[in-house]
Amino acid sequence: MSEAVRKLEDIPGVGPATAQKLRAAGYFTVESVAVASSRELTEATNLSAEKAAEIASAAREMLEIKFQTAEELLRRRGEIARLSTGSKALDGLLGGGVESQAILELVGEFGTGKTQICHTLCATVQLPQNEGGLLGSAVYIDSEGTFRPERLSQIAEAHGLKTEEALRNVIVARAFNSDHQILITEKLDEIIPEKNVKLVIVDSVISHFRAEYLGRESLAERQQRLNNHLHRLLRMAEIYNIPVVVTNQVIASPDMFVGPTTKPAGGHIMAHLSTNRVFLRKGKRDIRIARMIDSPYLPEEECIFVINEYGIRDAQDEATKP
Ligand SMILES: Nc1ncnc2c1ncn2[C@@H]1O[C@H](COP(=O)(O)OP(=O)(O)OP(=O)(O)O)[C@@H](O)[C@H]1O
Ligand SMILES: [Mg+2]
Repeated sequence: MSEAVRKLEDIPGVGPATAQKLRAAGYFTVESVAVASSRELTEATNLSAEKAAEIASAAREMLEIKFQTAEELLRRRGEIARLSTGSKALDGLLGGGVESQAILELVGEFGTGKTQICHTLCATVQLPQNEGGLLGSAVYIDSEGTFRPERLSQIAEAHGLKTEEALRNVIVARAFNSDHQILITEKLDEIIPEKNVKLVIVDSVISHFRAEYLGRESLAERQQRLNNHLHRLLRMAEIYNIPVVVTNQVIASPDMFVGPTTKPAGGHIMAHLSTNRVFLRKGKRDIRIARMIDSPYLPEEECIFVINEYGIRDAQDEATKP
């Protein structure tokens, strides 16, 4: 997108000094300034509230954020791209693959395959469109230290990709705490256009937030920061027309006497900002069950898939290479 590469100095009122302050605070593009609130800008840069408001509004004007007709929206939605998970059944559950301009949330207990799906997507995103890919690279924000290049290499090879090239096309950032995770996301505005990134993964999006904000009194602050973080990810998905995939944990839901005994962590914020949520659980052996929950337009259905040496596969194709 051409508008994605305009420089900060192009914003009216932003000279070299202000641009430098913005960059130091992690704002690299017009888009990143436009989607920030003026309060965020003030806190991050020490600019006065008036100056921050002026800059944010000038940046928004440059983006021509405007009211759109339903027809225009339909055209924009027509640009939605689909990324294959490696399983036709799971793609079907998602309405034809993981969609761009949206956040897909994978939620489930340990070992249900969230990280394995993320690894597989890092391979499939590199495939050409007619093979379910987006012919691009991936960013993997790893907050739990569970990204494994060996595993990616194994899956990439199974998909007929050259392994060294496949590994070069995945940019991994280990996030050590929630501040760091947010900072990494802010840097993405620079990396996405430059490296032809067509997929952003955050695995897991919530674990640092949950670990750092304990107790009721800090819950509001945690949710506020998580909200900003997810908003930024969603705007990125929209601006660059790419899918963003985040993983989430489950928490006990003791207030439910009937129905599920676990629910996704992150409360309303998480539920609201994920476009589609897929709930994963274990079946026998390598079988996993995925259920679509809370989608605005997809039915609440279930499907099964398997995890094996090839990554994510359909149960009936288990023994065959992709
Ligand atoms: N190379 C492989 N071949 C076959 N199965 C594998 C392979 N690597 C991992 N698995 C399977 O994937 C499962 C682990 O899934 P994964 O790590 O994606 O879980 P998760 O949902 O991310 O869990 P957590 O909440 O702990 O992060 C295990 O059951 C493991 O057997
Ligand atoms: Mg995991």
